[in-house]
Amino acid sequence: MAQLSLLNISGKDGARQRLQALRQELNLHAHRYYVLDDPILADAEYDRLFQELVALERQYPELITPDSPSQRVGGAPLAQFATVPHAVPMLSLENAFGGDDLVDFEERLFRFLQSREPIAYVTEPKLDGLAVELVYEDGLFTLGSTRGDGLVGEDISNNLKTIPTIPLRLLAPHGETIPKRIEVRGEVFIGLADFKKLNEERGKVGEPLFANPRNGAAGSLRQLDPKITATRPLDFFVYGVSDTTALPCTTQHELLQYLGRLGFKVNPLVHICRSIAEVVSQFALLREKRPTLPYDIDGMVVKVNDFALQERLGAKARSPRWAIAAKFPASQATTRLLAVEFGVGRTGAITPVAILEPVKIGGVTVSRATLHNEDELRRKGLMLGDTVLVQRAGDVIPEVVKPVIENRTGQEQPVIMPTTCPECGFALVRIEQEAITRCPNPDCPAQRVRGLIHFAGKSGMDIEGLGKKAVEQLVGQGLIQDIPDIYQLEAGDLAGLDGWGEKSAENAVRAIEASRTPTLAKFLAALGIRHVGEVTAQLLARNFASLARISQAGEADFLHIEGIGAQMAASLVEHFRDPAVREMLARLEDLGVRVQEEQPAAESGGTLADSVFLFTGALARLSRHEAKARIKELGGQVASGISRKVTHVVLGESPGSKLTKARDLGLTVITEDEFLRLIGR
Ligand code: IVH
Repeated sequence: MAQLSLLNISGKDGARQRLQALRQELNLHAHRYYVLDDPILADAEYDRLFQELVALERQYPELITPDSPSQRVGGAPLAQFATVPHAVPMLSLENAFGGDDLVDFEERLFRFLQSREPIAYVTEPKLDGLAVELVYEDGLFTLGSTRGDGLVGEDISNNLKTIPTIPLRLLAPHGETIPKRIEVRGEVFIGLADFKKLNEERGKVGEPLFANPRNGAAGSLRQLDPKITATRPLDFFVYGVSDTTALPCTTQHELLQYLGRLGFKVNPLVHICRSIAEVVSQFALLREKRPTLPYDIDGMVVKVNDFALQERLGAKARSPRWAIAAKFPASQATTRLLAVEFGVGRTGAITPVAILEPVKIGGVTVSRATLHNEDELRRKGLMLGDTVLVQRAGDVIPEVVKPVIENRTGQEQPVIMPTTCPECGFALVRIEQEAITRCPNPDCPAQRVRGLIHFAGKSGMDIEGLGKKAVEQLVGQGLIQDIPDIYQLEAGDLAGLDGWGEKSAENAVRAIEASRTPTLAKFLAALGIRHVGEVTAQLLARNFASLARISQAGEADFLHIEGIGAQMAASLVEHFRDPAVREMLARLEDLGVRVQEEQPAAESGGTLADSVFLFTGALARLSRHEAKARIKELGGQVASGISRKVTHVVLGESPGSKLTKARDLGLTVITEDEFLRLIGR
């Protein structure tokens, strides 16, 4: 490492020497900090050196060099970008969509080479950003450009200079030879956490949000004013060079290591594979890792490792034969909005549902997607016939992201909101403060069915064998109309129905039998009282201990409980005052349903005794530390990994793979808001 001499800074020669030492020192520390993520100098010390550099450069502007760290934001705004031809075309890659395609890829290589000698591959995450080329002459960054059409790109040098992980001067440790000229290629991207912050800031000042990190990176790189680019959290991973002939490497893997030594950031998930089978399992592993990575990837690039083999294989018009991009099933796609149907929820809420031209997203065909509510539908400005962007959020529930306005033809029709219930014809009412339109008919058949599905389902009594389809079938057959009817079902009623056998009928009746003595919390949640979910149900159970007490309570009694607000209190009182509900509860009692009394909170040692929490994703309103402390105070436990012991999975922002696993295990997932209520915030 360069020694900083503090002596002899008098005169221009002294300044020149000092500046050179400062540049070298600062560039080395920036490399350790940004590229290696392993700083060995305190931030304050770095700042001090940087200030010294800036002061000296101000005194001697003629001594400023292009690799000075002060020059990262130096460029003036441009009127337009100049075009630059790429000395060697920037090719693209053919796609593979799974293991079979990868095996085919290798078969093509074998055929081309007329040999079945084992081939070694390098696998690299396929970053979803923008390809750029960086030219270094005698170690100095001299030109940076976009891929453009592969032959000609745009000169975005000043913007690329602002990216701290792009070296302005190549490092040459241990006497590494620096080529006279090297054209380095890689991907500019924005990390997910940075992207979130960037959009939050844009939202605050009323600037339009970027749809995804890729668009954020593209928009930031194509800024004519590098000062704006400098404020964007851009990052860079290197993945290759235009020409390998003059370099001291014979394989892709050696090349990446070499580029790392020159100061570039190399993705840590690069692997050497000795066979295509290994490549296929790497692909599966990477796909599993994907949700936990701090940046977006859309697949894995597979490259023949050996340069001599690459040379023999050569390229087709647009892509090399020696590489392929194994793409993950896309979780976003565009399709057409054919119609909007209006569903009636359990509480009568009218939910618009998009009917889509079927499209495959992430391996699943999507033909319907939720539009959440009328306000959402309006906000998105969707029209019938629109091309729409659809995604599977959290890789489960498909949703419409937005219309693709550019594709409008003028033939699109507005979506007309219904004024009467599509199921029962009752005039709909709109509750302003809830932004929801509802069917007010308590006998609306759609609401009844949804209510029954909820009662028997996972968030309710969890009666095995009485899933959505079964409930719909039983209602359709006139076997059940309301909750008590479930407890009058006999195996003989079910056994003859389509899809049922004696065994499944007996099992279902046994499951119904087993649900005759539910805990209070479970039963309350199963009733599907508006605003009362699983969390509130638990709060109520702990505080009231018996169904009788809850059904007789007034609003004030509920409002005493931390975590229960006016809306819930009103809804509870209204629910239990309803004569139809009272009659239903009496019938259930007659049919032998006995709701268990809960242990009062004080006796069981804290309101969260028996609760085990697991967090996934970042919490917005309190730190995990605080959250854990509060849980402990209330007698609960915090788990570090997923297991069946977990009673509540708390869902933060950008949840990880724990969420998927939690869903697979059927664990209760609660939002941060619900969690806050549970801990009495
Ligand atoms: S190699 C001839 N490696 O994917 C090889 N590309 O169509 C050309 N990409 O736009 C590219 N990660 O920007 C390569 N590790 C990686 C990559 C990668 C992302 C992008 C690249 C290009 C596209 C290929």
